[in-house]
Amino acid sequence: MESVIVAIDGPSGTGKSSTSKAVAAELGLSYLDTGAQYRAITWWMISNGVDVDDPLAIASAAAKPVIESGTDPSAPTITVDGLDASGPIRTQAVTARVSAVSAVPEVRARITELQRSIAAAAEKGIVVEGRDIGTTVLPDADLKIFLTASPEARAARRSGELKGKEATDLATTRDALIKRDQADSSRKTSPLAKAGDAVEVDTTDLTLAQVIECVVTLVEEKRAAK
Ligand code: DC
Repeated sequence: MESVIVAIDGPSGTGKSSTSKAVAAELGLSYLDTGAQYRAITWWMISNGVDVDDPLAIASAAAKPVIESGTDPSAPTITVDGLDASGPIRTQAVTARVSAVSAVPEVRARITELQRSIAAAAEKGIVVEGRDIGTTVLPDADLKIFLTASPEARAARRSGELKGKEATDLATTRDALIKRDQADSSRKTSPLAKAGDAVEVDTTDLTLAQVIECVVTLVEEKRAAK
């Protein structure tokens, strides 16, 4: 079977992670959550006293943390300097600051290089999810998907995920999500954007199973045509 590289981009709450993991598991591919890498470097900056409101301070520390991603879709891992970061990267403290940290060009250059080397090492192929995978990180990906959904649907999904952890009301989640998407879409270096050759899938009225089935079919078609 030919190796295949799949890029899945889109704003938060569109089902990117659940879809990417399930598609990779079903097709025997590796899986990379690039948002987790930006969250991990943000967590390291906060934990190490770097002023995350100062892009120059972020830039000069960008090369320091050692970030490692495990790419098994049934048990993805993320460590920073050898420490498990999977819990802390999902806290509000990190979520509120990740857009500012990930907008710094030195951070993006560092993480982009890491992402390319992980993709190149995946023998059977990989599903890579993020914001700029199809446009910047892997512009030659075999298949590019851009997931979208209405802000209401996205906020409802996100607040479902947060339930019991750091529960907030729907309107607060919706506002925070829109603000983060605006920051991610308007930054200068590789913003959140749909690649010209990406297939757009609006997930607003689809179940997760339907989205997975749609993407699996698209990957299989690409593989058959290779
Ligand atoms: O997918 P996520 O919500 O975990 O991503 C967290 C943040 O990381 C997101 O707000 C923007 C940034 N990000 C990015 O700039 N580029 C990527 N390829 C992935 C995420």
